[in-house]
Amino acid sequence: MTYQNYSLKQLQQIDAAHHLHPFTDHRELREVGSRIITRANGPFIYDSEGAEILDGMAGLWCVNVGYGRDELAEAAYAQMKELPYYNSFFKCSTPTPVLLSQKLAEIAPKNVSQVFYGSSGSEANDTALRLVRHYWVLEGKPEKNRIISRKMAYHGSTVAGTSLGGMDAMHKQLGGAVPNIVHVMMPYAYELALPGESDHDFGLRAAGAVEVAILEAGANKVAAFIGEPVMGAGGVKIPPVSYWPEVQRICRKYDVLLMLDEVITGYGRTGEWFAAQTLGIEPDTITTAKALTSGYQPLSALLVGDRIASTLVEKGGEFNHGYTYSGHPVACAVALKNLEIIEREELVDRVRNDTGPYFAKALQERIAGHDLVGEVRSIGLMGAIEIVKDKATKERFLPAGSAAVTVRDHAIAHGMMLRATGDTMILSPPLIWTRDTIDMACERISKALDLAQADLRKR
Ligand SMILES: Cc1ncc(COP(=O)(O)O)c(C=O)c1O
Repeated sequence: MTYQNYSLKQLQQIDAAHHLHPFTDHRELREVGSRIITRANGPFIYDSEGAEILDGMAGLWCVNVGYGRDELAEAAYAQMKELPYYNSFFKCSTPTPVLLSQKLAEIAPKNVSQVFYGSSGSEANDTALRLVRHYWVLEGKPEKNRIISRKMAYHGSTVAGTSLGGMDAMHKQLGGAVPNIVHVMMPYAYELALPGESDHDFGLRAAGAVEVAILEAGANKVAAFIGEPVMGAGGVKIPPVSYWPEVQRICRKYDVLLMLDEVITGYGRTGEWFAAQTLGIEPDTITTAKALTSGYQPLSALLVGDRIASTLVEKGGEFNHGYTYSGHPVACAVALKNLEIIEREELVDRVRNDTGPYFAKALQERIAGHDLVGEVRSIGLMGAIEIVKDKATKERFLPAGSAAVTVRDHAIAHGMMLRATGDTMILSPPLIWTRDTIDMACERISKALDLAQADLRKR
């Protein structure tokens, strides 16, 4: 590649002329130009101007083993030379998806031993939706078809992903969602708990909304409930510990399948391989992608629980669904090596026993006290900082989201990449972060908060 022959200005001009970006206001982008990231190593990314930025988002919640892993490049290269592609249709298979499936069955919750591949989290959720509906048809209950999801959920950006998700702005542009999906309240105590309501009670009340939706439709009409263990794009909303066990109890009571979307939380982020293990629940489907390859290749794996898989096998008949790149040999080779690295370097244990607790303490002790911060929260290496105008009343700055963008811009200018969603700053760093990296991040975030506060006061 010869991009080095181009100046930043030239790359920005070509980008503006030809490249439409995801989730972007293109008029605004053309006014400011893209930030061009040209290389990365360990926990750092570098832009075309040579600025070194600590990547607090692991790319987009995915680069769990950090950047610059030669082993992953070598695994891809070796597989490309041996067999770059063959499909998994027509009773064919290739070795790497076979071995990856075995590995995933080994690390998944114990009720899961089958895998269906795609290339993105959105595709995997499409598969999950098709599969649970197909399951109930095979079980002779085709009317059990409704899916319950949650407001502010993010399940991807295809038509199915958007329909499952609960993002108003996305639904507005959809022009007709996949039918028979309803959205109930999210389990976000900071904004939704009643005065004096404990976290525990709020968690039970939020789970109770699932039961209300089941009863409204009639249990014989409800196929499944879907949720992210921790709502990610919606603002790292961590439910009270009472929430998930109660949701599982309700689903079992009414024979409703439980679908967990672990596209962000899978592969170590919460201090277990899967958040299902952190939460102590056994979902019927687990959607995973992103950190399965640490983002080095596009790959998703829908982990399918034994209940659904055994019906699929016992009843037979073709499941009319799949993708050209289902079980892509190169992506699966990279995933196998990536899981090997995570195991060898004990990254999951490190998050559970060391960096996760240290991260939580650092956010509490060094960030939570700032005047602009209403709340900090984290689970494993996933955290959020709520930006408020008034700590006591939780009043936000206007227009909504503008203060968080101010913080984010100062953070990036001071070598810290983090994301602003609404009024929430989000952190989801590579699992290779150490205590020192966490210290560095806290220093840079504190500085950004100070500078943002000065700006916001002037306004
Ligand atoms: C929980 C969740 N589900 C699904 C997706 C969609 O994944 P993809 O962008 O790979 O389609 C995302 C993406 O961030 C996600 O956070």
